[in-house]
Formats: sequence, structure tokens, C-alpha cells
Amino acid sequence: MFRLDEKVALITGAAGGIGRKIAHTLHEQGAYLALTDLNEEGLKALKAELGDNVEYFVANLGDTDAIKTLVDAVEEKFGKIDILVNNAGVTKDDLFIRMSDEKWQFVLDVNLTAGFKLARAVVRGMMKRRYGRIIGMASVVGVMGNAGQANYSASKAGMIAMNKCLAQEVGSRGVTVNSIAPGFIRTPMTDVLPDDVKAALLAKIPEGKLGEAQDIANAVAFLASDEAQYITGQTIHVNGGMAMI
Ligand SMILES: NC(=O)c1ccc[n+]([C@@H]2O[C@H](COP(=O)([O-])OP(=O)(O)OC[C@H]3O[C@@H](n4cnc5c(N)ncnc54)[C@H](O)[C@@H]3O)[C@@H](O)[C@H]2O)c1
Repeated sequence: MFRLDEKVALITGAAGGIGRKIAHTLHEQGAYLALTDLNEEGLKALKAELGDNVEYFVANLGDTDAIKTLVDAVEEKFGKIDILVNNAGVTKDDLFIRMSDEKWQFVLDVNLTAGFKLARAVVRGMMKRRYGRIIGMASVVGVMGNAGQANYSASKAGMIAMNKCLAQEVGSRGVTVNSIAPGFIRTPMTDVLPDDVKAALLAKIPEGKLGEAQDIANAVAFLASDEAQYITGQTIHVNGGMAMI
């Protein structure tokens, strides 16, 4: 089940906590990987861990002009892109009345505009080959909102809506487009939260624990697979039940 043999997957934010698990999981399922991130050291280490059928491409998704170059380089290396995982994401939190234009624009550029430009660049080839999977990393706050995160929440809500639009346009061509909305995932950031903050957080999660990056990677592998071919325009919420949407 969920084999991805010889499928080419482009994963953004691959050097991050969730991106690395996505890379390992898709690689175990037989995919060829094009890994991209700002963090060259992280990419190099990940390629060394994974071994064969992996290449990395350093790119700054905040510079949306770099995206065409990135996609051209991946297609040159692998000949095609079957799976795009728009996973890279940033935060620049502030209260709404203090939110600067720069903080707003930075987060929207990386989290949403880069994903748009990447999807636009890869979808034509997918349609021609009658096969494609586009998966966007959203967030529970893209649906629920969160104080101090107007820019981030808007970018994630935008990702969900954008993917629904594209899903409607390309559904008849064998291309599916979906989003994954993680809740609280255990990362170095959540590890250092004070115990009382952690306890308050856990009280809101019916499963009583934070999610693992692997839980997100499993959802990506499923949506990327042939078995998920009748699922498009959807958002899978991976949050231990903290929001039942
Ligand atoms: N960790 C969570 O609890 C959680 C919850 C909900 C959603 N998410 C989403 O999941 C995705 C992955 O999150 P994570 O926890 O692995 O975060 P992370 O910070 O560990 O990884 C993000 C990666 O994106 C890369 N990146 C940042 N800006 C970039 C740019 N301009 N160009 C290229 N690469 C850039 C970073 O270098 C990093 O490797 C993000 O979209 C995030 O918003 C995470």
C-alpha cells in the first residue's frame, strides 16, 4: 500500500522538522526526491542519510523569482515532477494592531505565494502526463484563527482555498490537490514550553498528546499514493482531535 516507486517528489522546507520526516517516508515508499530549503547544511545531511535517488536544491522561496529556476533545475535532473509538497513555512507573530507590513508580506510570500508559483510551474507537466499530486501544508490555525498570528493564519487559510480552486481545475486530468492541517506537533519549539503551558495545551487535545512529525508524513504519503486517487480538494486535519472540523 501507498508505494511511490519511481515517482519524483519535490519537497519544500525539506530540512525542517516535518520536511525531514516527509522525505524519509516518501523515500521508503520508493520515491525519487528533489529536496529544497534555504538551509544547505540541513539538506546535505539529509541527502547523506537517505542515500540513492535524492538530490537537493538550495533556494530561497521568499524570492519568488527563484522558483522558475528551481523547477527547471529539478526537471532537468529528474525529467518530471509527479508530487509537489508545499511544506516550507515561516512565522512572524505579532498582535494585529502592531503587525507591520513587512511581517505580513514576508509570511504571505513564503507560505502562500511561493506555493502558488510552485504549483503553477509544475501542474502543466502533471496535466500532460495525466498524473500529479499537489499537497500543501496548512495548519489548524488556518481554519480556527489564532491571536497574534493574522499573517500566518491568513497564509494557511489561503493555501487551503487555493488548493480547492486548483483541484477543481485539474481534477479531470489525473491531478489531485489537497491540504494537510497539522495541530500541535512535537518540535524543538514545543519541547521547551514550560510544563504548565504544555499541560494547558494537552488538556485541549482529546488524544492527550502532541502529534509527531511522522503523523504528518504518513498523511502526505497517503495523499501522494495511487490509493488516494479519489480524494481531491480536501483538507486532512491531523491534530489528535483538538479541532473537529
Ligand atoms: N510544527 C508544527 O507544530 C506545525 C503546526 C502546523 C503547521 N505546521 C507547518 O508545517 C510546515 C513545516 O513546519 P516545521 O515544524 O517542520 O517547521 P521548521 O521551521 O522546522 O521547517 C521549515 C523549513 O522551511 C525552511 N524555510 C523557511 N523559510 C524558507 C525560505 N524562504 N525558502 C526556503 N525554505 C525556507 C526552513 O529552513 C525550514 O527548514 C510549515 O509549513 C508549518 O507552518 C507546523
